[in-house]
Amino acid sequence: MAQTSSITIRRLDGRLKKELRIRAAKHGRSMEDEVRTILRAAADIEQADAAAAIQRIAEPGGDVEPEAPPRRRAKELTVRPTRVLLIIGGGIAAYKSLDLIRRLQDGGMRVRAILTDAAQHFVTPLAAGALCGERAHTDLFDPQSEFDVGHIRLARDADLVVVAPATADLIARMAGGHADDLAAAALLATDRPILIAPAMNPRMWAAKATQRNLAQLVADGVRIVGPNSGAMAERGEAGIGRMAEPVEIVAAVAAMTHGAGPLAGKRVLVTSGPTSEPIDPVRVIANRSSGKQGHAIAAAAAAAGADVVLVSGPVNLPDPPSLSVVRVETAQQMLAAVEKALPVDVAIFAAAVADWRPRRVSESKIKKQPGGAPVLDLVENPDILSTIAHRSSDRPRLVIGFAAETDRVVANAKAKLAKKGCDWILANDVSPGTGIMGGDTNTVHLVTASGVESWPPQSKDDVARALVERIAAALEEAKQ
Ligand code: CTP
Repeated sequence: MAQTSSITIRRLDGRLKKELRIRAAKHGRSMEDEVRTILRAAADIEQADAAAAIQRIAEPGGDVEPEAPPRRRAKELTVRPTRVLLIIGGGIAAYKSLDLIRRLQDGGMRVRAILTDAAQHFVTPLAAGALCGERAHTDLFDPQSEFDVGHIRLARDADLVVVAPATADLIARMAGGHADDLAAAALLATDRPILIAPAMNPRMWAAKATQRNLAQLVADGVRIVGPNSGAMAERGEAGIGRMAEPVEIVAAVAAMTHGAGPLAGKRVLVTSGPTSEPIDPVRVIANRSSGKQGHAIAAAAAAAGADVVLVSGPVNLPDPPSLSVVRVETAQQMLAAVEKALPVDVAIFAAAVADWRPRRVSESKIKKQPGGAPVLDLVENPDILSTIAHRSSDRPRLVIGFAAETDRVVANAKAKLAKKGCDWILANDVSPGTGIMGGDTNTVHLVTASGVESWPPQSKDDVARALVERIAAALEEAKQ
């Protein structure tokens, strides 16, 4: 990649270059990858020259043939993740808001943060900014902020505003329509849905004034999550007033954004993880798949508003929020669960399905015999992807497979695309040296009937988001 992209970066002015270097370091990416990520995520990049810029800095991959820029790339980029404006109020629960940023991002959302003056006694703008990947906003009269975005744009460039922790004071100022600091001004200026996660001492929560203000906010259409009851930060204090846990807030956000993203109204099926084929009651044939990529895709599709069914083999991962998970062990169970989930608009087969299973499963543990090791008699498992792609009824509009390869990655993936009858294949090199199997990053090549597109190394979450963007764009294009 280096040459053309570094020329592009060299042309940036000093200040931008410095900001880019800091962002890239924060994310552990190269400056070129950071540019690519920024461009991909930018909601308002529609111009063809942006697409061209992305193409220029796309990384050519190993055995990949050079490709023409994909058609309608600029349009595809208009599909973007849900944008959350997180307003952090001044309470001890503010420390949980840092975790909340990560969890919202794990759900495929982009987070921008505002900290009130009081919040900065508990967490720093630096910490919030580092997690968000852009500086946190603090000051209504900060000339740089007003020049960059301004409180009106902060309020408008979001799909949803979350206030966590929402203190008694912030709730009172919201109810009164104040605009005396950046948080209050943005809340007054927004026309987006607002979710508040109150956190305060139980007596302040029970106070008539607080309840009056809350009733006003509910009447104004503001949604509330929590507070929970339990021990307070103050020693010996307990009752209602603890901020809802970040997972609860993410679930409330997901419920509010459901039906609002680029995949709203679409049903998406994802298979993930390994399958496990029993030999006897204690032994299985398994593989090293962690399920991270499949789970990330399911989460990103749900965050984009899709109704998602995740069919998962045995994994050590939490269920992503706001989707239904069907847990299976064997390939045969996975096929049955997949067929039961039909019809769907899009099916993504990310599971590492065992190709073979023992013909017979021993009911008791196979013991060592003097005659030597037993011979496993194997039979082939059903090919789930191929079965679904070749269906004559209820075939999903878009069937996407993965190709886990250790050599001739793209050539093998092209052969798989034809053999399995799917529409797209994401090919990745799972040789031990790549660290992809079980790791947090992935390098994929998107193989379609019209060509091969190599994506740069990026986190599995970013691969998932990019794939969801492509899916949404393809469905949109098919409509026209
Ligand atoms: N797949 C499937 N059912 C199977 C085997 C594979 O649905 N029994 C799907 C996987 O989920 C993946 C794609 O087929 O989307 C390719 O899987 P991969 O393991 O790369 O290839 P195989 O089909 O198993 O072929 P080979 O092992 O020969 O490379």
